[in-house]
Amino acid sequence: MCGIVGYIGHREAYPIIIKGLQRLEYRGYDSAGIALYDGESIKLSKTKGKVADLKEKLENEISTTGTLGIGHTRWATHGVPNDVNSHPHYSNSGDLVIIHNGIIENYDSLKKELINRGYTFKSDTDTEVLINLIEDVKKNENIKLGKAVQIALNQVVGAYAIAVFDKNKPNEIVVAKLGSPLAIGIGDDEYFIASDASPFIEYTKNAIYLEDEEMAILRRGKDIKIRKIKNDALVDPYVQELQLNLEQIEKGGYDHFMLKEIYEQPSAILDTFRGRLLSNEAIIKMAGIEDNMKRFLAADRIIIVACGTSWHAGLVAEYIFEDLARIPVEVEYASEFRYRNPVITEKDIVIAISQSGETADTLAAIKLAKSKGAFVFGVCNVVGSSIARESNAGAYTHAGPEIGVASTKAFTTQITVLTLMALRLARAKGTMSSSEFRHHLIELETIPGKVEEALQSDAYVKTVADIYKDATNFLYLGRGFNFPVALEGALKLKEISYIHAEGYPAAEMKHGPIALIDEQMPIVVIATKKGHYEKVVSNIQEIKSRKGKIIGIVTKGDVSVKELADHVIEVPETLESLTPLLTTIPLQLLSYHIAVMLDKNVDQPRNLAKSVTVE
Ligand code: G6P
Repeated sequence: MCGIVGYIGHREAYPIIIKGLQRLEYRGYDSAGIALYDGESIKLSKTKGKVADLKEKLENEISTTGTLGIGHTRWATHGVPNDVNSHPHYSNSGDLVIIHNGIIENYDSLKKELINRGYTFKSDTDTEVLINLIEDVKKNENIKLGKAVQIALNQVVGAYAIAVFDKNKPNEIVVAKLGSPLAIGIGDDEYFIASDASPFIEYTKNAIYLEDEEMAILRRGKDIKIRKIKNDALVDPYVQELQLNLEQIEKGGYDHFMLKEIYEQPSAILDTFRGRLLSNEAIIKMAGIEDNMKRFLAADRIIIVACGTSWHAGLVAEYIFEDLARIPVEVEYASEFRYRNPVITEKDIVIAISQSGETADTLAAIKLAKSKGAFVFGVCNVVGSSIARESNAGAYTHAGPEIGVASTKAFTTQITVLTLMALRLARAKGTMSSSEFRHHLIELETIPGKVEEALQSDAYVKTVADIYKDATNFLYLGRGFNFPVALEGALKLKEISYIHAEGYPAAEMKHGPIALIDEQMPIVVIATKKGHYEKVVSNIQEIKSRKGKIIGIVTKGDVSVKELADHVIEVPETLESLTPLLTTIPLQLLSYHIAVMLDKNVDQPRNLAKSVTVE
């Protein structure tokens, strides 16, 4: 992962870079560093810890003047998080300096060759190998930096978004990309570089997203030059106008991004079906489906690939597609799918779900599927992201930027898009009558209001959180459409409070987890009216007999669970297939409040990152 930022132009680079790194901290936050060129030499400072630690250290350590600079916030892959392994890294001569997001897979053999040629290494990183390889090529061939970067990268196996500059040529930054994202902001005689556009949104709305295997030379006051790394061909720059605004990436009065994003769900879901769900006309309009309807109708099955929370959304979609559209669905962890020689045919549709659109395993899975002739449909949140670009067609979730590492609104908007798709296909296939279809549309339209209502449980959820915050284990149970919600609830708790939690199908409890139940064990059970309610009530009775503490997520007005459970949290009634959009809300709030009470870093939990661009 890691976040990279750079600037070359007429402004002071330091404030742009430090603020940019703070915005990119969702990508990694175990160490950070900056290198600035002050007109005479490179000033470099880096440290283990967060960008705030870097800021404090750096402002006492180096002068922060200069109109050219690069910065990095790290999520360690090669080498533990410490000062030395932090980026930027110098070449041996001290002339070149680099920041890198990605992994150089053949770094070990390259390093051995460089050691044989007399190079020494201070850090354990693959990045220090790359900058010395660039230096070696540059010296041996007596060529300019851009050419040296290109030749070096042709020897590299792996993934990278890099920015490099040479203190002897302080009028240019060379950037290149393969696998990891790299956006270039185009200002007036100035360039911004970043892993996403958020660091430069207040300076320019014009951006170029480099494609894989492209590099660019950014010269002060000169037009950008983009080339293919492999064959040196010049590429016409495609400048996009950014839709992002500053407000969307700030906390807006909430204590944490996660809470802001939980509360944004009613409007995010509305944005997801805006223009697509037309209940008056009783239609769903999704260009990605309409344009490829033949392919969808001819498909033998749908394979969903995703990771983390997006995988849970995929599991919900499996229930929805099979129930409504009667299309067989398989849901795969992208990381497993890509390495197990899966059977894929040209009649398969692969749906890739990804908030960031950059997850390396998901990207690799869809490349594999495409190579076997499958049709790939991307469900992404980040517009223009790698997965969105790599897919044959797709639908954006339009949730707006999600910054908290624990995914919330991305999950519910993914389910919303997938529900719209299933409904559209159900109608086309005739697996649903027009009155059922219309009923679903009308009910779906009420969901934002019902999510709003579910959010009103917040204060009560907080009191429940207070009672159970010191538990060391949690169990989450659900059935049918709400089994994946149980998995997601457990994941949320693990991610941000570091409490062990397991999600299970409620009926499977008796085959294992029941052995864990005692009077210390909180068990969150999703027991909404239409989801095999009686069966779940029986499961609750089994827990009760073993003295487990029951937190029931129930339909408003519930009676039976109320009698058995220690606590009940109500959500409004809706169609069974839509309940995940509501039952997930109290689970997000529960994990949020527990994490805050335990004084954990909610938005940046340890060891995690928002965008996992490494395998
Ligand atoms: C990381 C994030 C998770 C996310 C997963 C998949 O692990 O911390 O919140 O669910 O990646 O990310 P994607 O962007 O592909 O949805």
